[in-house]
Amino acid sequence: MRAVVYDRYGPPDVLRLDEVPVPDPKPNQVLVEVVATSVNLSDHETLVGTPFYARVGGQRRPARSILGSDIAGVVAAVGSDVTRFAVGDEVYGDNLDLKGGFAEFAVVPDTALAHKPAALSFEQASAIPQSAAIAAQGTRELAPGDRFLINGGGGGSGSLAIPLARRAGAHVTAVDNTDKLDFMRSLGADEVVDHGAEDFTRRGERFDLILDLVGRRSVRAYRRALAPGGTYRWVGGSMSTLVRVLVGGFVVGRVTGRRIGMLVVREGPESFAPIGERCAAGELDVHIAATFPLDDTADALRLVGDGAAPGKVVVRVR
Ligand SMILES: NC(=O)c1ccc[n+]([C@@H]2O[C@H](COP(=O)([O-])OP(=O)(O)OC[C@H]3O[C@@H](n4cnc5c(N)ncnc54)[C@H](OP(=O)(O)O)[C@@H]3O)[C@@H](O)[C@H]2O)c1
Repeated sequence: MRAVVYDRYGPPDVLRLDEVPVPDPKPNQVLVEVVATSVNLSDHETLVGTPFYARVGGQRRPARSILGSDIAGVVAAVGSDVTRFAVGDEVYGDNLDLKGGFAEFAVVPDTALAHKPAALSFEQASAIPQSAAIAAQGTRELAPGDRFLINGGGGGSGSLAIPLARRAGAHVTAVDNTDKLDFMRSLGADEVVDHGAEDFTRRGERFDLILDLVGRRSVRAYRRALAPGGTYRWVGGSMSTLVRVLVGGFVVGRVTGRRIGMLVVREGPESFAPIGERCAAGELDVHIAATFPLDDTADALRLVGDGAAPGKVVVRVR
């Protein structure tokens, strides 16, 4: 089968198109003929090998040679223990552990998959799993009237988190680069902040919940931007900030009556399928900024790494 592979961390140029064997599903796995795979920032992080958490399982060399975790496609074979899926089913899911979506076939644990709603195209379905899990779990604590800030709101997770927060009745402030401000307004953000022009922790505003997709500041800065009783959740960003948030955030939070910590996102169909159903019903939109053929997967990863895409980037495999 055709696959986009890599064997050392580096920029998108280290990716190459190759012929590799079709993988065999284990008893609990499904072989998916991939139609579309969306690109997540986590794919770009695992490509370049930074932040440090992107090297879990492969300190010196990548643990997996094929990236791509948000997969949508058709079941081509099932392992002996699989009962929920049959050959021909249309499925989607986040194959975060095994990846392999930038290839014509991928093996996926059956527990990572859901049936694709018929109203969604394969491209749309592939854009949902990881972003939906982050967006749903990152906004679930919101109550009407809460002041919510999302840092990195113009990317994949933000494009779902902003409307979800609005539907929860929160006042939404969204932070990203200049080119994504209009996009975030169109998603429903009440206020937008250009991170190149302004530091959201120095606006004098206090938020009840901060969801940080690109956490790179000090615990002190986050504490400054939180209302009493408020919560800060680090989702992605620099390793040093994560360590500071985990070590100092707990103490600072306890002392000042705030909660500063990490959002550990639970993956799986119970996390993303409810959002997929809402997208299929037309209640939420899937925002695809660009679609690339498999041969141009490197360009798709480049676009995500450069942060130039409002919403999601998708690779059309078949
Ligand atoms: N905690 C968990 O359990 C868990 C699970 C899965 C994934 N993740 C992580 O979640 C993170 C976000 O994922 P995603 O797919 O939503 O990312 P994304 O689509 O790339 O969105 C991130 C957005 O942040 C913007 N940005 C970059 N630097 C910024 C800054 N300094 N201030 C404000 N905005 C900035 C980016 O645009 P520009 O670059 O153009 O500025 C981009 O629009 C990744 O790091 C991933 O590893 C965490």
